Amino acid sequence: MIDIDQLEQETLQQISQAHDETALETARLAALGKKGAISALLATLGKMSPEQRKTEGARINALREKATLALAAKRDELEEKSLAARLTCEAVDVTLPAAPNGLDTGRIHPISQVLEELTAIFADMGFSVAEGPDIETDDYNFTKLNFPEGHPAREMQDTFFLAAGGEEKKLLRTHTSPVQGRTMLTEKPPIRVICPGRVYRCDFDQTHTPMFHQIEGLVIDETTHLGHLKWVLEEFLKTFFEVKGVKLRFRPSFFPFTEPSMEVDVQCKRQGGEIRFGEGEDWMEILGCGMVHPNVLRNCGHDPELYQGFAFGVGIDRLAMLKYGMSDLRAFFEADSRWLDHYGFRPLDIPSLLGGLSA
Ligand code: DAH
Repeated sequence: MIDIDQLEQETLQQISQAHDETALETARLAALGKKGAISALLATLGKMSPEQRKTEGARINALREKATLALAAKRDELEEKSLAARLTCEAVDVTLPAAPNGLDTGRIHPISQVLEELTAIFADMGFSVAEGPDIETDDYNFTKLNFPEGHPAREMQDTFFLAAGGEEKKLLRTHTSPVQGRTMLTEKPPIRVICPGRVYRCDFDQTHTPMFHQIEGLVIDETTHLGHLKWVLEEFLKTFFEVKGVKLRFRPSFFPFTEPSMEVDVQCKRQGGEIRFGEGEDWMEILGCGMVHPNVLRNCGHDPELYQGFAFGVGIDRLAMLKYGMSDLRAFFEADSRWLDHYGFRPLDIPSLLGGLSA
């Protein structure tokens, strides 16, 4: 005959000593599993006399009940323990500084940043972005833009001509103005584009590099006039330099592709090696512009009797230097990571008119 009290003691002890889920399951099987000791006891009930069944049955059932409750209690206890252990080892100290990653070390080059700023400004005024090839034909770079054959202006730009070959004379474009022609030949007015890109001239000193960047603006429709040009340039410069207003001075000039042509000076204040825009009585030349020459319109498939418009061209690198205070253009292209760390922008500082251009 099995000693029920002893079995109870053993079973409860095994359960209480179980230190993990596996040990607890072993204890459960040993007591209540198909071949467990309590299950075996229950199986003996059938062979008992009715009186014996009354007394013994009640004891055996009570034992089963106790074991079941003890198992459940132990399971809860083990679950709580393992949760507490996980919470301790997976704890996150939110006060620790974030681990360094690409966002902290990578930098956006000032030219890319300024280009994004310009795109945001002009997109807001309804301009879209057009691009053209760096290797350009003599025709697009000069002829279509009304530079006469043999005209000294062709040499004025210190052009890198490519070795002759093929039918067309090729060169590295000296300005972004050829994208004007490419756009006019493929799009119908109204045209409102900016054309950013690399340009090349044989020149090298503190403020000149053989490759630099320009952005061209072009507006063509039936009624656009000089007043619109002035407004666009004012809006652009004051937004770009993040000042309340700028005074501009338009000086007559000459470009073969515009008539009249103008150079634009922007009001500034020079003080202790610093330049501030939107104040002062000094002037700084900043860009060239004008009304698109009728010959250019004609060369690019538009009737100058029907259409007119303006164009302007600005150096992107120069804008970056003026806004962010670099003094040597050559450093832009030296890929010195110390320079980039200092003058570069964080990848998520994406310029927007709402969030701030250089915030
Ligand atoms: N293409 C000129 C240059 O590289 C800049 C320029 C001047 C562009 C006047 C224009 C313009 O569109 O109207 O010096």
